[in-house]
Amino acid sequence: MKRILSGIRPTGGLQLGNYLGAIRNWVALQETFDDCLFCIVDLHALDTLADTSTLKNDTREMAAAYIACGIDSARFPIFVQSHVPAHTELAWILGCLTPLGWLNRMTQFKDKAGKNQENALLGLYAYPVLMAADILIYKATHVPVGEDQKQHVEFTRDLAGLFNRTFNVDFFHLPEPMIFGEAMRVMSLRDGTVKMSKSDASDYSRINLLDDADTIALKIRKARTDGDPLPDNLENLKDRPEARNLINIYAALSGETAAQICVQFAGSYFSTFKKDLSDLLIAVLEPIGAKMHQLLREKDELDAVLQRGAESANKLANQHMQEIRNIVGFL
Ligand code: AMP
Ligand code: TRP
Repeated sequence: MKRILSGIRPTGGLQLGNYLGAIRNWVALQETFDDCLFCIVDLHALDTLADTSTLKNDTREMAAAYIACGIDSARFPIFVQSHVPAHTELAWILGCLTPLGWLNRMTQFKDKAGKNQENALLGLYAYPVLMAADILIYKATHVPVGEDQKQHVEFTRDLAGLFNRTFNVDFFHLPEPMIFGEAMRVMSLRDGTVKMSKSDASDYSRINLLDDADTIALKIRKARTDGDPLPDNLENLKDRPEARNLINIYAALSGETAAQICVQFAGSYFSTFKKDLSDLLIAVLEPIGAKMHQLLREKDELDAVLQRGAESANKLANQHMQEIRNIVGFL
C-alpha cells in the first residue's frame, strides 16, 4: 500500500514557488499514486500568525489553489487540518514520547525562534510533533515536501519507530520523504540568491498565483537581469543567479531542461527572452488565477469540497485513532 500525504500552511499570498515547488508536483503524483490526501494545515499556520483575521480567507484561497492547479478533489480528499481532531489527539500522545533532545536538533525551530528562545512559543517548538501526527494518523508512506522539511519527515520516521518499540507493535509505517530537487527552487525576481517568498517586502520579487496578465508581464519586464546576452550553456550562468533563475522558471514551465532553454535562446538579449517567458507564464498562470477567482466567488461549493474532504479524512483518521487508543491502553 502506498499513500501520499502533504500539506501547506494557509498563510496567504500564494506565489509561483508554491506552484512549481509543491502543488504542481502533487498534481503529477496523483497520476501514479492511487491514494493521496492533500491537507491545508491551518493549525500549523497558528505558530507564526499573531493575527488570525485572514485565516478563513487564506484557507479558502489555498483550497482554491489546490483545485485550480489540478488536484482532483473528486478522487482525493482536500481537507483542512483543524477539521480532523485526531491530528491533535495523536500529536499529544506522540509528544509524550518525544525526547526534548530530538526537538532541540530541529533547524527550523532555531531559524524561526531566533536568538530570543525564552520568548519562543511552545507551538513553534512542538511543530514537528504535530507534523508527525499529520502524516502518521493516515499511515502515509510518502511525503512530498521541500528540502527544508526533510528533517521533519526524518523526525516523523524516528517517532514512528519509537512508538512501535514503546508499545511493542508494528503499527506505523516509516514514511519516506520525496524531495523535489534544486531545479524546483524558484528564486526572487529581485535577488537570485534568495527564495521567492510571500514574505518578501517587495511584490516585484514574486509572481503571485492571483496576478493578472499585465502584472505578470510588468514584473518580468522589471525582473533584475544583466546586460549580457544569454550563453549557450549553463556553466556560463554560474555567476548570474538572476539569469539562471529566469531560465529555470522557463524550463519548469515548458517541461524542457534548463540546458535546452539555454541552447534555444543562446545569443538573445533579455528583452527577447523576457517577452517569451512572460507569454509562457501568462499561458500557464492565467487559467489558474481565473479558476481560483471563480472558486472563491462560489464559496458554498468550495466549502462543500472541504466538507467532503474532511469526511473521508476523518473516516480514515478515526479508524486509526481507535486502534492507537487501544494500543496505548486507554479505557
Ligand atoms: P511556504 O509558503 O513557504 O510555507 O511553502 C509552502 C510550500 O511551497 C513548501 O512545500 C515549499 O517548499 C514550497 N515553496 C515555497 N516557496 C518556494 C520557492 N520559492 N521555490 C520552491 N518551492 C517553494
Ligand atoms: N511543515 C510543512 C511546511 O512548513 C507543512 C506541513 C505540515 C506538512 N504538516 C505536514 C507537509 C505534513 C507535509 C506533511 O511546509
